[in-house]
Amino acid sequence: MNTMEAIKARRSIRSFNANPVEEEKLQAILEAGACAPNGAGLAVFYTVVSGDSLEAVKGKAAVAMKKEEGFDPFFGAQTAIFMSAAPHPLGIDVANAACSAENMMIAATDLGVGSIYLLGFLAGILNSDETFPSFLGLDEGQKPILCLAIGYTDNPPAPREVAIKNVVYLK
Ligand SMILES: Cc1cc2nc3c(=O)[nH]c(=O)nc-3n(C[C@H](O)[C@H](O)[C@H](O)COP(=O)(O)O)c2cc1C
Repeated sequence: MNTMEAIKARRSIRSFNANPVEEEKLQAILEAGACAPNGAGLAVFYTVVSGDSLEAVKGKAAVAMKKEEGFDPFFGAQTAIFMSAAPHPLGIDVANAACSAENMMIAATDLGVGSIYLLGFLAGILNSDETFPSFLGLDEGQKPILCLAIGYTDNPPAPREVAIKNVVYLK
C-alpha cells in the first residue's frame, strides 16, 4: 500500500474481533507515532493497555458514563493506546499527540490493523476519576489526551468518498 492508499483506506473501526495485534505490528505502530512532528520538544507518553488493565478501564468508563456493566468503549478491541503529555498553554500537547495518532492510524492501516481515535469516554473518566493519570503510569503533571483502539475487524468499511472543500486560494 502506498501512502495515499493508506490515507484513503483508513476508517474508524467500531467492530473489532478478538484477534490481538501482534507485538511486531504494535512496535511498528508505536514507531510511526514517534516519527511524528513535535512542537516545543514536548514529549508524548504512550500507555499500551490490554488484558486485565483494559477490563479495568472498561469498568471505569462504565461508571463515569453511567453505563451498564459490560460497556466496552473500545468496540471489542484488545489493545488501547493512551497518549498523554504535560498540558501546554498553546495546546501544543494536544497537537503533538494528534500528529502522532494520525501517523499511528495510517501505519496501522498499512499493516492491515484497524483503529479508532477515541475521546468521549476518556473525557468522561477524566471528569470523574482523578486517579486515572496515575493508573496510566503517568508522572505528576502529565495528562491523558486521547486514546486509540487498535485491532482487527471482520467488516472493514469501504474508503469514504471525499471532496476537497473549505479551501480558499489567495494568489
Ligand atoms: C478528535 C477526535 C475525537 C474522536 N472521538 C471519537 C469518539 O469518542 N468515539 C467515536 O466513536 N469516534 C470518535 N472519533 C472518530 C470520528 O467519529 C471519525 O473519525 C469520523 O466520523 C470520520 O470517520 P472515519 O474515521 O471513518 O473517516 C474521533 C475522531 C477525532 C479526530
